[in-house]
Amino acid sequence: MRHLIDIRDLDMREILTLLDLADDIYAKPEDFREVCRYKKLATLFFEPSTRTRLSFEAAMMELGGKVLGFSEAASSSASKGESVSDTVRVVGCYADIIAMRHPKEGAPLAAALHSTVPIINAGDGGHNHPTQTLTDLMTIRREKGGLSDFTIGLCGDLKFGRTVHSLIAALSRCEGVKFVCISPEELRLPGYVRQDVLIKSGAEFEEVSDLAEVMPELDVLYMTRVQRERFFNEEDYLRLKDSYILTPAKLERAKRDLSILHPLPRVNEIDTAIDADPRACYFRQALNGKFVRMALILKLLEEAGK
Ligand code: NCD
Repeated sequence: MRHLIDIRDLDMREILTLLDLADDIYAKPEDFREVCRYKKLATLFFEPSTRTRLSFEAAMMELGGKVLGFSEAASSSASKGESVSDTVRVVGCYADIIAMRHPKEGAPLAAALHSTVPIINAGDGGHNHPTQTLTDLMTIRREKGGLSDFTIGLCGDLKFGRTVHSLIAALSRCEGVKFVCISPEELRLPGYVRQDVLIKSGAEFEEVSDLAEVMPELDVLYMTRVQRERFFNEEDYLRLKDSYILTPAKLERAKRDLSILHPLPRVNEIDTAIDADPRACYFRQALNGKFVRMALILKLLEEAGK
């Protein structure tokens, strides 16, 4: 059974095929309106979400399928002590495919070991978020025209930000991508990403704390929020939360064709005055997320023979 737990479960060729399919769906959604008729997607969200859950649900509905699920652990049998592997074994009796978000790193992987239907990791703790990465790759490709030879600045909470970890894992397999990792000292990338992904792949990267200094060299700027829910104490969060606030003044030294991405939700790290700037891609990015999830659901159902 094929699952998507880590973005590296897909090779680059498969990713590009998925992005092509997502672009086709974007261009002609009417051609895909019935393709998942009688199919069901279960969304098992043990942690809050707006975009990811709703974009999965909208994706399945636009493919002609149906959705069921829950949006908080408290309303599921997890609150009675059921394990995730039992939950997916049961849900597999009712649904053809499952999207799962969980606060514990590795929970979707553990679930996949026992599942009879494909599992999609919709975010596991501070670890991975592969469907956000597909969304980000689709957005970069549509905005920049390709996935090679550019400099990306990743800014904010690089320690707990799972979207950044998965995005680095994907882009480190692309040609000529340079990474500029911008964060306070305490929120730098975890060692396993720096060592096992960046250094191992031979990617060019630097770690800095000043956004203004590197702004002129960036082609893509990926902003992230400081992940309050993963901090051990509120004091540290309050001290670090406003480390980077992107304002129109800070963009003065940026390239004219910079692409600004953010997985959202935004707290205050991007001034709303930037929303009208054509370089702001984050709402287009949220839209892309629905199409790329449609492509992924189709691919996994097809591979499962459903
Ligand atoms: C991200 C996540 O859940 O990790 N949100 C999302 O899925 N678009 C980013 C975040 O919560 O900061």
